Amino acid sequence: MKRFALAAILIAAPTGFAHAESAPINYMLQCQGCHLADGSGKPGSVPSLVDSIGRFVRVPGGREYLVRVPGSSQSSLSDRDLARVLNYMIRSFGPADVAADFRPFDAVEVTQVRRPPLSETESVRRALLSAMEAR
Ligand code: HEC
Repeated sequence: MKRFALAAILIAAPTGFAHAESAPINYMLQCQGCHLADGSGKPGSVPSLVDSIGRFVRVPGGREYLVRVPGSSQSSLSDRDLARVLNYMIRSFGPADVAADFRPFDAVEVTQVRRPPLSETESVRRALLSAMEAR
């Protein structure tokens, strides 16, 4: 009886865990190397996500940018997992008030815009930042 219960836990645990925790784990394995655990990035090469990534979803083209930036677009994550990681990043790094009207990414939206990856990343990013400042 005891042995059976333990086997049931061992079988059930990994799937439940993977479902609930896949976004933070995928971020840790695939994104954190450049973006760091706290989202602060690397000055001069990887922009900080802190109080910044959530602002992109408020300007036209910003959602598409987050999906098509090479780190997202070219990752090995499925469209569904990429949507989840982006939602996780926006919720974790903020700004905090983004949660109120934020419509989460889903697999359908990611599939629509993911390809091809952005090639003019720098200029697109700059244009989005000035659109944010103009608001
Ligand atoms: C090899 C380093 C590297 C890895 C790994 C990486 N990124 Fe990035 N990321 C960057 C750089 C550099 C930028 C700035 C834009 C550019 O030049 O591509 C960026 C920008 C971004 C942005 C836009 C933020 C902004 O302020 O412009 C998002 C969203 C993003 N990455 C998501 C991801 C996701 C999701 C993963 C993991 C699946 C990931 N990145 C993995 C280097 C990386």
